[in-house]
Amino acid sequence: MGKHNNSFTGHMRPRQIMAGALRLRATFCLGGFSFLAFIVLTITGVLLLFYYQPGERAFASLSELDSVLPYGGLIRSLHFWAGQLMVITVFLHMVRVVWSRAYRPLKELNWLTGVALFGLTVMLDYSGYLLRGGQESGSAATVGQALFRLLPGGQALATIFFGQPTPQNGSTIGMYVWHVFILAGVAGFLQLFHFWRIRRGSGVRPL
Ligand code: HEM
Repeated sequence: MGKHNNSFTGHMRPRQIMAGALRLRATFCLGGFSFLAFIVLTITGVLLLFYYQPGERAFASLSELDSVLPYGGLIRSLHFWAGQLMVITVFLHMVRVVWSRAYRPLKELNWLTGVALFGLTVMLDYSGYLLRGGQESGSAATVGQALFRLLPGGQALATIFFGQPTPQNGSTIGMYVWHVFILAGVAGFLQLFHFWRIRRGSGVRPL
């Protein structure tokens, strides 16, 4: 039985869990809703990859996807709204953790993982907006570059993230790589680590 508890299924469905942790008031399921949004984003995001063309054709390919492809507009809208929802649920999840003071030992590492996840979620939403390649993406890129330059070593950071600074940066292939592979990949991996730490660190502790 001990062996079973160390296994993958043992983590997914532990034999014991504190009754209080199941109360809705302990978590409001906000972390769970964030994960659900991430799953919807991954599925719809992969579907969008079949048609979206980064670079010069970004805006045009999205317009075609909206108006020509069957269910293209639905998939794009689902991706957009799941993204907005995730920013809100992740933020509220963080507020809940602060409210129940769940950042204290044994949970400091998971708090730090969460801080990184919050940053990644915001950056994913921002880079996704730039991928539209419309005029508003160009303006958002200009604002983002200015914000980056306020940081120490900001010019170098801006060049790493945006590539060559031009008004068309919103639709570059570089932003596509950040959004689809690096930011989404690291966020997915950190979430699995986050869940593993919850099991390791005595589960969700109610107030
Ligand atoms: C992608 C974003 C995130 C996902 C999918 C996620 C998911 C979860 C889940 C499913 C739980 C179990 C309890 C619950 O549902 O509240 C949890 C707990 C926890 N999360 Fe997150 N989380 C995310 C971001 C964050 C952020 C931004 C923070 C804080 C900076 C954070 C800190 C914590 C801590 C400390 C716990 C343990 C809470 C306790 O013991 O009461 N997480 N997370």
